Amino acid sequence: MDDSLIPLRAPRFARYEHTLGRGYADAVEGSSLILGDALGVLSAMPAQSVQTVVTSPPYWSLRDYGIDGQVGLEESVYDFIDHLAQLFDQVWRVLRDDGTLWLNIGDSYTSGGRTWRAPDRKNVARAMSLRPATPDGLKPKDLIGVPWRLAFALQERGWYLRSDIIWEKPNAQPESVRDRPTRSHEFVFFFSKREKGYKYDVDAVRGPNGRRLRTVWPIKTQAFREASGHFATFPPTLVEPCVTIASEPGDLVLDPFVGSGTTPLVAGSLGRRFIGIELNPEYLTMATRRLTKAGFVDITPDDSGEAGSDAAL
Ligand SMILES: C[S@@+](CC[C@H](N)C(=O)[O-])C[C@H]1O[C@@H](n2cnc3c(N)ncnc32)[C@H](O)[C@@H]1O
Repeated sequence: MDDSLIPLRAPRFARYEHTLGRGYADAVEGSSLILGDALGVLSAMPAQSVQTVVTSPPYWSLRDYGIDGQVGLEESVYDFIDHLAQLFDQVWRVLRDDGTLWLNIGDSYTSGGRTWRAPDRKNVARAMSLRPATPDGLKPKDLIGVPWRLAFALQERGWYLRSDIIWEKPNAQPESVRDRPTRSHEFVFFFSKREKGYKYDVDAVRGPNGRRLRTVWPIKTQAFREASGHFATFPPTLVEPCVTIASEPGDLVLDPFVGSGTTPLVAGSLGRRFIGIELNPEYLTMATRRLTKAGFVDITPDDSGEAGSDAAL
């Protein structure tokens, strides 16, 4: 029989509710979505269990996801960077030594003296009532440089910054500014834990004309219907090269800020196991729906079930 005719086994996953102090030995054996605070859940995960991490933390002071404990609402950008740096110390711990981290993070501007942001009818998560004061050392209307500040903080803590990738958005939204260019890109930083010998299959992904992967990736942002309440979803085509190049089928891929579940969707479709962590129960439900709609099988144990080490959602 031709190999290509063998149907792929539908990816199976379970959902868990984080209970501090409980470990996730079962969760890392299979594929899971975990409801909880990323830092707390990561701290309970076994060391060296993950092959690659693809993630996009909330941007600083840009969106209110409407839940206590969320990252991104720290009063100062320096506290925000510090919070994320501590979280990525835990990512370092759970990542195998030959593992890698692909980190997308957006930038923002200081407020230019405004303290209130007008509600945005198209994007209610942007209707934040307060914008923080201009950070020390910056001026009104400065671009803060959040991605690079975070990249340098991670470098200082031991990560190897191997590449900056520019995610160019050909369909970027117009901005109402008249004194600078409209922003149409974000960064994806590629980190390893060591200088060499990390998993990176240079031939696994080819660009136009069969060329090796370049550092500017033109990828349109995409809205999908199920995520109508979620406003910063990854396009699957942004996640695909990261997972393909840095892991093999059967490897474990982690997204500690999983949102609507794009990283698991791509990872599972490529035959990888996955763990997604999300603080907001509504988004975790959205991710679950999205995965089951795509044919993934939800095997969440019920309260009496033996399969999980924590209570099921
Ligand atoms: C930029 S979005 C990620 C979107 C995701 N890449 C996707 O494709 O849908 C960031 C997510 O982090 C979640 N979040 C915020 N604080 C968190 C925390 N402390 N622990 C876990 N998740 C958190 C937010 O609820 C939001 O869904």
